[in-house]
Amino acid sequence: MNDQAGQIPGTVAQALLSANYLTVLTGAGVSAESGVPTFRGKEGLWRKHNPMELATPEAFERDPKLVWEWYVYRRGLMGNVHPNPAHEAIAELETLYPKFLLITQNVDNLHRRAGSKELVELHGNIFRVRCSRCERKLDELPDLNELPPKCECGAYLRPDVVWFGEALPREAIDRAFQASVECDCMLVVGTSAVVQPAASLPIMAKKGGAFVAEINYEPTPLSDLVDVSILGKAGELMSRLLDATSKRRNG
Ligand code: OAD
Repeated sequence: MNDQAGQIPGTVAQALLSANYLTVLTGAGVSAESGVPTFRGKEGLWRKHNPMELATPEAFERDPKLVWEWYVYRRGLMGNVHPNPAHEAIAELETLYPKFLLITQNVDNLHRRAGSKELVELHGNIFRVRCSRCERKLDELPDLNELPPKCECGAYLRPDVVWFGEALPREAIDRAFQASVECDCMLVVGTSAVVQPAASLPIMAKKGGAFVAEINYEPTPLSDLVDVSILGKAGELMSRLLDATSKRRNG
């Protein structure tokens, strides 16, 4: 069901007030108001760039320098922006629930910078680096004067993100599946809901009995499957959803 644009329906406020376990699933739309480009919108990255040349293991094997340049460019974009009211509202929501999990597809680190702690990054984090061969992980970016950088073991280092055709980090997806089945309310914010397995999490939550509300600028394939779809900008709507929980905060 699509609700009237921007209105917070009473059923959503009620679900947020009564929930014990809240999950939030986010996509690129949550960072759009910070100035991070989305993937599939009018100005989306995948409209201008071919993901098969930039975000697959085969692309990295073929041209690691090009792939690295793409990620250095995106890191630059993401490092120069700031969390917006949607990230901040989600971080605040976390403090109001006995059980909470944020499941994000974003690699931009903005949720952590806004203060979110209970989170899983399904698609990794662009600010981390790992070895393409051994288990080594680095939190600091190595010297990028010469691309691609190399690990101590001699293999190329790579961004610690998930590429097309790769499996998601086991621990992250297990935690996300479990939380989706167990939660009693899920908010799905700013995702086109076309990339699996993230897109199936709201369906799992619904089947598990949770109240599921979508917050998005436009309808998605999920809109008719969830309890409520609220159309509008994530920053404004998440702030209003946080306001709707004020009774929780005030006891
Ligand atoms: P998309 O770019 O596919 O979708 C972004 C969604 O956010 C769209 O549904 C927009 O309508 C919505 N949106 C845009 N601005 C918004 C705003 N201000 N407020 C609310 N909604 C807004 O991004 P994702 O769904 O995150 O994967 O894409 C999923 C995955 O596909 C990404 O993690 C990435 C990509 O390929 C990998 O790189 C593995």
